[in-house]
Amino acid sequence: MTHEILDPTTTSAWRDLREHAARLASTTIRDLVEADAGRPDSFALAAAGISFDASRQRLDDSTRTSLLDLAAECGVFGRRDQMLAGVHINVTEDRAVLHTALRMPAASTLVVDGVDVAADVHEVLARMGVFAEAVRSGEWRGATGERISAVVNIGIGGSDLGPAMAHIALEAFSQRDISFHFVSNVDPTDMSEALHALDPARTLFIVASKTFTTLETMTNAHAARSWLVATLGEDAVERHFVAVSTNAELVSAFGIDTANMFGFWDWVGGRYSMDSSIGLSTMIAIGAEQYGQLLAGFHAMDVHFATAPASGNVPLLMGLLSVWNRNFLDIETTAVLPYSQYLSRFPAYLQQLTMESNGKSVRLDGTAVDYQTGGIFWGEPGTNGQHSFYQLLHQGTSTVACDVIVVARSENPLTDQQDILVANALSQASVLSLGRTAAEVAADGTAEALVPHKVMPGNRPVSVLMVERLDPFTLGALVALYEHSVFVQGVIWGIDSFDQWGVELGKKVAMGILGDLLGTQPASFDASTDASIARYRSLA
Ligand code: F6P
Repeated sequence: MTHEILDPTTTSAWRDLREHAARLASTTIRDLVEADAGRPDSFALAAAGISFDASRQRLDDSTRTSLLDLAAECGVFGRRDQMLAGVHINVTEDRAVLHTALRMPAASTLVVDGVDVAADVHEVLARMGVFAEAVRSGEWRGATGERISAVVNIGIGGSDLGPAMAHIALEAFSQRDISFHFVSNVDPTDMSEALHALDPARTLFIVASKTFTTLETMTNAHAARSWLVATLGEDAVERHFVAVSTNAELVSAFGIDTANMFGFWDWVGGRYSMDSSIGLSTMIAIGAEQYGQLLAGFHAMDVHFATAPASGNVPLLMGLLSVWNRNFLDIETTAVLPYSQYLSRFPAYLQQLTMESNGKSVRLDGTAVDYQTGGIFWGEPGTNGQHSFYQLLHQGTSTVACDVIVVARSENPLTDQQDILVANALSQASVLSLGRTAAEVAADGTAEALVPHKVMPGNRPVSVLMVERLDPFTLGALVALYEHSVFVQGVIWGIDSFDQWGVELGKKVAMGILGDLLGTQPASFDASTDASIARYRSLA
């Protein structure tokens, strides 16, 4: 296929946006808020149960119009339609990008490269459902006839972060007599600590790896296998191990019955796979029906992204705001601040989604970009972060954009704690964006010498995302919102958001160093690495 490679900086919208940035250079968010009483309404959007309030972002209406022009000039809508139709928009791997097909309703049809992918998805979903319900009901037994009481997901990156995040997020909807564990790190501590209190006879391992070759996952899978076999023998492997993978040959070689392998496809990127069979642990936790709700939430956001007019399209605006902050306001990082303990792993999940997708320096045709691309995403749940890094957010020399996520209804109402939580979220959104001037600080009776220390510069762009409840549907919609926002950014920047070549060299070099450490292939590296290896050897 041919790729129209556009340098976004050559568009007229980009030039307009530069002018907007210059025009607004000395206009603060506070100025914008005070100048327009209608702003909270005109910058409030909603989709699939999520309200998105951009009124604390540093832009005005005409800037927003130019951002929408930029989307049009950069071909976001055409690219979106290509993605949804299964065109190979992952150019460097020559693959379709079809995570949206993972959540199409059962009656759908989507023929891509001659195959009805929607039918394939539902075939796997049906098998997952049967298996998940058998584990939940106790019909599926371990080798000695015991019920499964612990599920250990072994995977890394996209084969870990989504399920691990979703497990915590949906704990209130989970079957509580099964415990869930997520082992990802090749550090032997991760597996050892997970297995510490587990009974092999009641433990089910899900080996989750798209390729079934990932060093960390396969090392951990073999460690788990040895642990199980030591107590229950080789024959037990089939009752205690299932696989989620695209690689039937390696799954079978591991000793897993391929009848208990749940497949997915090369058109599902790892970081876009939590709603593929990689979500098997999630389905065991919440059951097939609620898992259907999760998929329905994803799908509702997909439909919105595909059909909502540009001016009210939430993922589109969210992605464009990220471009505005990154390329025109020179803001390098976004803090994701969920005011929900259930979303405690959401920032970690987003780190892979955003940074593995858009941390690129060349366009689709291999030409170097001369503008900034993917920003740095990080975060911690509020209110904990307030007592940690918010000092820098408020008064540091770096400006950090913030996504404040508010869940209105707690699954665990406890006196007035939910109101306390939400009061903190809204307070931070206000203070970060509006700040407090020297005159206001002085008017409080603050000693003159302390005034500069207490001035709050404000002007930190904040989006407030609010949902009624964090249930499976809403979680699906929230994840899809960020997925599509990442997509929009990638299209504007002209990069391939679906490959990850940057992680390969480190893996290869690690194998070389490992050969040297194990003595199987002694080698010499650069001087610093050789010195570090010698130091390690002297200490190990
Ligand atoms: O190292 C990066 C990566 O390829 C991710 O993109 C992926 O999610 C992860 O490794 C795990 O890969 P796999 O599912 O094949 O084990």
